[in-house]
Amino acid sequence: KTYGVVMAGGGGTRLWPLSTKKLPKQFLNLSGRETLVNEAVDRLLGVADKDDIFIVTNASQTEVMLSQTAGRVKADHILAEPAARNTAACIGYAAITILKKYGDGIMCVVPSDPYIRDEKGFQETLQEAVKAAEETDALVTIGISPTFAATGYGYIRSTAVEGKAYRKVEEFVEKPDEETAREYLEAGSYAWNSGMFIWKASTILSYYKKLLPDIYECLMKLAEGFGTPGEEALLWEVYPAIPKISVDYGIMERADHVLMLTGDFGWSDVGGWDAFDALKSRDENGNLTVGKTLLLDSRNCTAYSVDKLIAAVGVEDLIIVQAGEAVLVCPQAEAQRVKEIVEALSEKG
Ligand code: GDD
Ligand code: MG
Repeated sequence: KTYGVVMAGGGGTRLWPLSTKKLPKQFLNLSGRETLVNEAVDRLLGVADKDDIFIVTNASQTEVMLSQTAGRVKADHILAEPAARNTAACIGYAAITILKKYGDGIMCVVPSDPYIRDEKGFQETLQEAVKAAEETDALVTIGISPTFAATGYGYIRSTAVEGKAYRKVEEFVEKPDEETAREYLEAGSYAWNSGMFIWKASTILSYYKKLLPDIYECLMKLAEGFGTPGEEALLWEVYPAIPKISVDYGIMERADHVLMLTGDFGWSDVGGWDAFDALKSRDENGNLTVGKTLLLDSRNCTAYSVDKLIAAVGVEDLIIVQAGEAVLVCPQAEAQRVKEIVEALSEKG
């Protein structure tokens, strides 16, 4: 059996003010078709049955999630985390739930945030990955050909396996510094980690046991409560104490049997305002505009307006965003720093 698991608990702070605490990135409709989380679910339908798709999200977002995904995902397949404990906790919780409540099978774990142009290509790659995980019992990832020296991604070095569609992962490095990222890019033998993982629920749990024993212990405690009247209370007691670490640092960097498929389906993680080019092309002046905007004698700007007019004259390389009561202005080159604004605002309360 093949399950789909969508991780949707991130804050998406770099897309402020469009993405906010109340309405984080996964609930935004950036493509003009569907919200990111619904697109992630729909894409999985090519690999898993509708009734076998799970979403892991923060308990504070369950209500919005239920109404947004109504008709798409079973209500009891929305797993609510009492606290955000990063992706190792999120995936471990999904794995133990699947194993103990629904039966072992391959989990296709995908983030809710990427934008993917070619849905069919994505599904074909994922099907290959499921085959590889079934055949070999390995941890399987999907790699993307890098286009610049990004420091916000994991990097994978792999070698070909004769007669197979998959490659053997020799090295997995999460978020290298800029110098290392540039070396990897120039070496030409590294792929970006897309943050999608395909593996058997029981297999990934055996890695938790070996590499993240503290988290494993918490998962075992949760499982003891499954199906008992105390299940919910136990979840709220145990979950917030799960060690905070990402699956990339906790497992992928350290696991020994990892395979990779190369994904060539137009991937962008829409991590910040500088990644919007994946969604819309620029005009002849290099400007990318959404909503009511008037840019005179301006070049290489991104202007995104939700419901007010953005007007600018004689500016270059700027990002200007209006959403709700807030306006963001920032140089293109500093787009990743938008999260500092969110931090500063939350300190002010
Ligand atoms: N439910 C839940 N709970 N989801 C979470 C949590 C959590 O505590 N933390 C993160 N997520 C979700 C996010 O919403 C996102 O969909 C996904 O898990 C990945 O988390 P990010 O925080 O966006 O990770 P990242 O972008 O820093 O790095 C990962 O993705 C890159 C590609 O976009 C890594 O896997 C990198 O190696 C990878 O290159
Ligand atoms: Mg991300």
